[in-house]
Amino acid sequence: MNILVINGPNLNLLGIREPELYGTDTLDELMTWLETSSAGTGHSFKFYQSNHEGDIIDAIQDERQWADGIIINPAAYAHYSYAIRDALASVTIPAVEVHLTDIHGREEFRQLSVISNVCVGHVTGLGKNSYLEGLKLLVQHLKLQHK
Ligand code: DQA
Repeated sequence: MNILVINGPNLNLLGIREPELYGTDTLDELMTWLETSSAGTGHSFKFYQSNHEGDIIDAIQDERQWADGIIINPAAYAHYSYAIRDALASVTIPAVEVHLTDIHGREEFRQLSVISNVCVGHVTGLGKNSYLEGLKLLVQHLKLQHK
């Protein structure tokens, strides 16, 4: 499967950004860990990070022929970007939303995700394992879809 992994704003600062919340791994370390995990074996990955809403939408559109599935941590955009939500709905590629922290147990403004209802799965609060569990969910979904 071809898996597009999208990380939104401020996730480029992982490792130094509020490590007590987001951990000490850099984004590169986290993505390499995901790609080389046993769940990642046999799949092709493209990794994309941007701090800009339109660039994330362009990446979703530009990769729509290549990607079989999307793992997205929209970061703060999860809470208010109808444009990213609509981009995911437009391309009809199965997407799983992931968050390092438990957005449902944090500040009120983080508890809503406007992206969730266009995703086939949602994993939050497991730290870097949110990405791993998200990948497993996505692959399971894609296998069922291709049966
Ligand atoms: C986050 C949670 C968001 O609320 C926050 O804005 C982020 C990171 C997470 O992975 O826990 O940037 O998406």
